[in-house]
Amino acid sequence: MTALNAIVDAATAAFAAARAPAELENAKAQFLGKSGRITELMKGLAALPVDEKKAQGAQINLAKQAIEAALQARREALAEAELQLQLQAEALDVSLPGRRRGGGGLHPIAMTMERIEAIFGSMGFDVADGPEIETDWYSFTALNNPENHPARSMQDTFYVDMKDAEGRWLNLRPHTSPMQIRYAQAHAARYADVIARGESMPDIRVIAPGRTYRVDSDATHSPMFHQVEGLWVGENVSFKDLKAVYLDFIQAFFETRDLQIRFRPSYFPFTEPSAEIDIQFGSGPLKGRWLEVSGSGQVHPQVIRNMGLDPERHIGFAFGTGIDRLTMLRYGVDDLRLFFDGDLRFLSQFQQA
Ligand code: DAH
Repeated sequence: MTALNAIVDAATAAFAAARAPAELENAKAQFLGKSGRITELMKGLAALPVDEKKAQGAQINLAKQAIEAALQARREALAEAELQLQLQAEALDVSLPGRRRGGGGLHPIAMTMERIEAIFGSMGFDVADGPEIETDWYSFTALNNPENHPARSMQDTFYVDMKDAEGRWLNLRPHTSPMQIRYAQAHAARYADVIARGESMPDIRVIAPGRTYRVDSDATHSPMFHQVEGLWVGENVSFKDLKAVYLDFIQAFFETRDLQIRFRPSYFPFTEPSAEIDIQFGSGPLKGRWLEVSGSGQVHPQVIRNMGLDPERHIGFAFGTGIDRLTMLRYGVDDLRLFFDGDLRFLSQFQQA
């Protein structure tokens, strides 16, 4: 049956020519569809005598099976080709370098704090931490602030509308000075036996860096800012120790010996005498200008008493330095608000590689 063979060949060729499943199904219709060539031949059998019908029918069936097999083979080939295309399109290139997560970095203020802690740590100072929500007593009263002092006013200090367990009003600490009292009290309690026996307790030597809050906001004041408190109390500590310690600190901080300090008389309720500490660079963009960086003074006898110590025996000095100010000076930043805006274009400049 060469005619049948020709149909099978034609079908195989048509299937091979089909480039997509839809084309293949169209080609199939030409041979096996309702009026396809094989179907027409089948219909023609009806008119034949029984013998021929049988013989030809068998031949047509063989041809039909051959076409169906060719169709199935082509279907599988097309499906396989499609799968390969898809695999190629979705292939993972494992040789590509991975994407890194953006590396974090320390905030410049945090960098300054670490720096301050390292320098004072090297001078034998402990580092202490305390509550940012303070009681009225620690923020003001213990530090010898009179009841009517303006610093206590709502214009200056943020109050929390709540009292502590002992009924003392709470505020957001306006300075780190309460840490003087907290740390010294703990120290005095730890050495109570030693003190009671009339022996000498080890000196109190501590810094307390941290957040502070005041009702204030402009290019050089933020309602939230940072200070570091320093305290050294013992039996034989004097202003000259303060001067030596502070000079060492500030020169280490700015990494230059070409830097001098001066003490300018001032007033704080918790120190007597009190002084502002100014610094002056001998070179660089700020050369020759006196810059105020810290309050300081000899701890007031009443404050020594509030620490649980005897002012006849214990004496010392304290200082409170603006951390943000030091950071601005060190990096040449002129607007304090940049530190707290959270703009990564600014902050990422401080990131170490
Ligand atoms: N607490 C003061 C302030 O915030 C700064 C200060 C001054 C702290 C003198 C001290 C000190 O420890 O002795 O303005």
